[in-house]
Amino acid sequence: MASQEFRKEFSEAWEGGYYEGDPLDPMAESTYGVYGYSSSLYTVYLACIRPYVGPKTVALEIGPGRGAWSRAILSRHCARLYAVDVAPAEHTHFWDYVGRDERVSYLVAENFELSDIPDVSIDFLFSFGVFCHLRPEMCESYIQSLSRKMKTQANGFLMYADFDKYNHCLDNADSTSLKRFFDHQTRKVWMPVKWTYSAMWHSFRSKVDLERVSKARAHNLTDASGRTSWYHWGVQDACRAILNAGFEVVEPDIRAIGRDPITHFRKP
Ligand SMILES: C[S@@+](CC[C@H](N)C(=O)[O-])C[C@H]1O[C@@H](n2cnc3c(N)ncnc32)[C@H](O)[C@@H]1O
Repeated sequence: MASQEFRKEFSEAWEGGYYEGDPLDPMAESTYGVYGYSSSLYTVYLACIRPYVGPKTVALEIGPGRGAWSRAILSRHCARLYAVDVAPAEHTHFWDYVGRDERVSYLVAENFELSDIPDVSIDFLFSFGVFCHLRPEMCESYIQSLSRKMKTQANGFLMYADFDKYNHCLDNADSTSLKRFFDHQTRKVWMPVKWTYSAMWHSFRSKVDLERVSKARAHNLTDASGRTSWYHWGVQDACRAILNAGFEVVEPDIRAIGRDPITHFRKP
């Protein structure tokens, strides 16, 4: 009897089959509305850190800066974290942000050797927003060192720059960005937000973003002060370097973020 009621209720609902939205579309609209979008950083945490870091994990992060990702790694109760940055902690304010923690060793990099880290000791490698600032030959030096430091079955997640992906993302902002969400709104209540967003898009994007795009086409992005650059490495060359160092590539680009690649690799 109960099963008949169950069938009646659902056989009449959702004529045509229920459709929430396309799970393969990163900007899919859904009944979650404004609650249906996650931060790229949070998505990266869910995809790269949460499933791979646990109480037995010895982790290495290259270029922690203030330590936002370090804190995310530590939140998984890892056994130990080596945080290697070219800048001293007094400059990055790492300890102020992360808090004193016996599990963490903050190491200042003098080169790409990672020599203060014991060989074959690392279970998990993470680096975000760092290799995109290093010239490809520097990235390759780090990869060679990582092959000495990582244990068998250790996982690595590495974000870097691929200007072709970058340009594709910016060139297709109508489908890859929040612009699409606002463009599709027809309800009156959204109109002021839609117009404001559109005005900002046309004035702000044309000045800043388009300049970035044209520079990225030339594979040369330097910030206004001329101090930090973005260097194209590209998924193909990065994966070749990772394979040459004796790793296996689990996924060339996990596609957690629309603009930049993250390669998942593992020590066989
Ligand atoms: C844009 S910040 C990113 C910080 C952090 N990963 C984040 O996403 O919040 C780049 C960081 O990489 C560090 N860095 C630059 N070159 C490096 C190198 N060769 N080795 C290690 N860290 C480096 C910088 O000092 C800086 O802290």
